[in-house]
Amino acid sequence: MDNNIFPNQSIKPIDTKINQKGNIEISGCDLVELAKEFKTPLYVMDKKTLLKMALDYKEAFSSYPKTKMLFASKALMTGAIAQILNSVGFGFDVVSMGEIYTLLNAKINLKNTSFNGNNKSIEELEFALDNDIDHISVDNFYELKILNEIAKNKNKVQKIHLRITPGIECHTHEYIQTGQLDSKFGFDLSMIDSAIELILNEYKNLNLVGLHAHIGSQIFETKVYEDAAKIVLEEIKRIKDKFNTELSEINLGGGLGITYTKEDNPPSVFEIAKIIINSINSNCERLNLEKPMLYIEPGRSLVCSAGVSLYTIGSIKEIENIRKYIAVDGGMADNPRPSMYSAKYSAEIANGKKENKPEVVTVAGKFCESGDILIKDIELNQPNSGDILCVYDTGAYCYSMSSNYNRVLKPAMVLIDDGKAKLIIKRQTLEQLVQNDVI
Ligand code: LLP
Repeated sequence: MDNNIFPNQSIKPIDTKINQKGNIEISGCDLVELAKEFKTPLYVMDKKTLLKMALDYKEAFSSYPKTKMLFASKALMTGAIAQILNSVGFGFDVVSMGEIYTLLNAKINLKNTSFNGNNKSIEELEFALDNDIDHISVDNFYELKILNEIAKNKNKVQKIHLRITPGIECHTHEYIQTGQLDSKFGFDLSMIDSAIELILNEYKNLNLVGLHAHIGSQIFETKVYEDAAKIVLEEIKRIKDKFNTELSEINLGGGLGITYTKEDNPPSVFEIAKIIINSINSNCERLNLEKPMLYIEPGRSLVCSAGVSLYTIGSIKEIENIRKYIAVDGGMADNPRPSMYSAKYSAEIANGKKENKPEVVTVAGKFCESGDILIKDIELNQPNSGDILCVYDTGAYCYSMSSNYNRVLKPAMVLIDDGKAKLIIKRQTLEQLVQNDVI
């Protein structure tokens, strides 16, 4: 293991190797054995890689002691993963009652939790307040109004941030950009003053302490973080001068990219941390502001590289001189990212072969749509029916975006650690599939 490799900069989990049988092994677990024991498709999460990334995040920001780390749990919300991250000091960014409920079910309280989202329901806000959520990142005028009423009815003064769109465009897929002006999320800069006037004059059950900006996801540029910190701090300065209120917290969101294929070249968390911290320090000095509490809420970069998906190859179709399709026993329902965002993945055959004879094939899913292609044109070593395919970097936004399309059961997930594998999500059963059907 090379400690200087940051998980988000490498395609494979930390301890990935070929074992004596010629099979791929991660953290002492043979992937072919895992597939045999737990069946496929299977999500596999490597604890060591996950912890390495979590601890790298903490170390990278340690020179700015007023940092709070939140896991953007939309990337992968399960009780076991939440407990691991909670145990190393992460709080959570949640976006629904379901995510809150999952935390509570895992015996994690909400004292380090931020509630985001552009259309939280009354029921969800009430649930969050009833469970003493730390703060709500309020997204719009409607939410300010309903949240104030809810807090008033509960005799509470609720701590809030305002979610703002800082007007920054970053170069990522259009659907996962969020910081630009034309976005469904947040108050744009021209709306902030009216929101603050309402909070200060009318909404007495809201306590505004900070601003929150998230500029997008799978970001490779560093400058956007520098700009985001600058814009948010300039707003804090403007608000201080105009309203005589100095906001003490900023949240710069998540977004750090990862390496899905060798074409991807994301910065490390240390580079991003340095840029953010330098920008905060220099802008606070320039603007004569107290250094704020800093929240960072990574999702993908924290969990993605720790995850791989295992599939069994079934049918193979060769169209001469055109393409060879190899079909696996999962696809767009357990990983919708290729069909939604044209996301690219790296993969290998997990079971050893006598010789190395790579060929270019297209990995198709089993779902009834031509668009259900997991990987187009990838070089694999003699893929055959019955082989186990390992797709790397599926720890984020795969299980959390999975569906029961075609009434196919959702896969299980195992956590591997030092040669042992533990089931952390059971495979769905046919009974569970029909349990809400009313006949
Ligand atoms: N904070 C906020 C307010 C967010 O909206 C997000 C992601 C994050 C943090 C975490 O961003 P991350 O570190 O994961 O980039 N389903 C898409 C990604 C959607 C991201 C949504 N917001 C995908 O599979 O690529």
